[in-house]
Amino acid sequence: MASDVTALPLEGRRILLGITGSIAAYKAAVLCRLLKCAGAEVRVVMTPLAKQFITPLTMATLSKNPILVEFFDPENGAWNSHVALGEWADCYLIAPATANTLAKMAAGVADNLLLTTYLSARCPVVVAPAMDLDMYAHEATQQNLRTLRSRGVEIIEPAEGELASGLRGKGRMSEPEQITAFVAELLDEKKKSLAGKRMIVTAGATIEAIDPVRFISNHSSGKMGYAIAGELAARGAEVTLITGRTALSTPRGVRRVDILSAAEMYAEAVRAYAEADGGVMCAAVADYTPAEVAQTKIRKHDGEMTLTLRRTQDIAAELGRQKGDRLLVGFALETDDEEAHAEEKLRRKNFDFIVLNSLRDAGAGFRGDTNKVTFIDRAGREELPLLSKREVARRIADKIETFLK
Ligand code: CTP
Repeated sequence: MASDVTALPLEGRRILLGITGSIAAYKAAVLCRLLKCAGAEVRVVMTPLAKQFITPLTMATLSKNPILVEFFDPENGAWNSHVALGEWADCYLIAPATANTLAKMAAGVADNLLLTTYLSARCPVVVAPAMDLDMYAHEATQQNLRTLRSRGVEIIEPAEGELASGLRGKGRMSEPEQITAFVAELLDEKKKSLAGKRMIVTAGATIEAIDPVRFISNHSSGKMGYAIAGELAARGAEVTLITGRTALSTPRGVRRVDILSAAEMYAEAVRAYAEADGGVMCAAVADYTPAEVAQTKIRKHDGEMTLTLRRTQDIAAELGRQKGDRLLVGFALETDDEEAHAEEKLRRKNFDFIVLNSLRDAGAGFRGDTNKVTFIDRAGREELPLLSKREVARRIADKIETFLK
């Protein structure tokens, strides 16, 4: 058996290479060679148009496997199972990915084998876009890329340079060497720094029923908590995401538990934390819930109406009591005297560190894709610049790693 020192970067890895109809398809031959040289087993699926750009014979010879294009073999009727292909692969790499294929992936269109395989795949999916600069810059394409990214698809940005149209600009598929290095890095087990760790993350807003049609809730989108759950899972942690209702899709590799009310979140979080190494309390939990839920719709009447609310249980504080040597990370969303309030919560809820959002900072808080936070722990404070929520999630995961070591 090869030692770690001599092991090839993709030794034993199964790469499904998807090729779409772009002039950059000629680079797929080199890419296939490089993946094989790096130790990977490669199978190739092509769109019908891709065959016009590079022959199946070339790709079959290089990959040492028959090429898959149709749902079934026209010669003998054998079924090319997209489900089996998706299960086989450790990584589905679509290179080149045209604007058309990216749009279909974003919309969930399934009119060829390459796309049905994408919809079935549970492994990491990587795309290397290739197109003319104006197609790449078009808002439709950019929106599709954002959609795919938000669903966990890894995007290898195209490079600037001369394009097949003769124009110069951004749209040229990244070079096969870079794509191979990207995939090797993505699949590198040594990067799984949180392997064996069990984490729970609470996210999103809770919903407290008033009557069968009305409720009390808040503006939390859940984006920050989902980004953290995804990042921890990407680092190898076993993640349980206990979530209020959101419009977000489940990050790859994360076990998701859907709840509505603070009471439901409390029950699930206490149960999951008992088995966990740590928790990140990102949810915006209602502090009050109607004392009684009306069984029928409350009718309006003249004059004022009073609703009696009672306190919900504080999930973070309860986990803080049970914590022992587990890790507990909290969030604080403040509008005034921010750091003093956050420090008080750090102590009261027994957090190891707290992530402070100030609603006074532009670009921070609920709905956006950016956040500006300060970490506060018992040793001090660290103020981070305005970053994407994904980058903030990485920084939080880095800090979690230092505590779990
Ligand atoms: N939290 C929780 N359960 C609750 C309320 C809050 O788990 N019922 C968690 C949040 O997820 C967050 C932290 O506690 O990590 C701080 O939430 P916040 O609502 O700001 O704390 P409070 O102590 O309720 O603050 P305030 O006094 O400002 O209302």
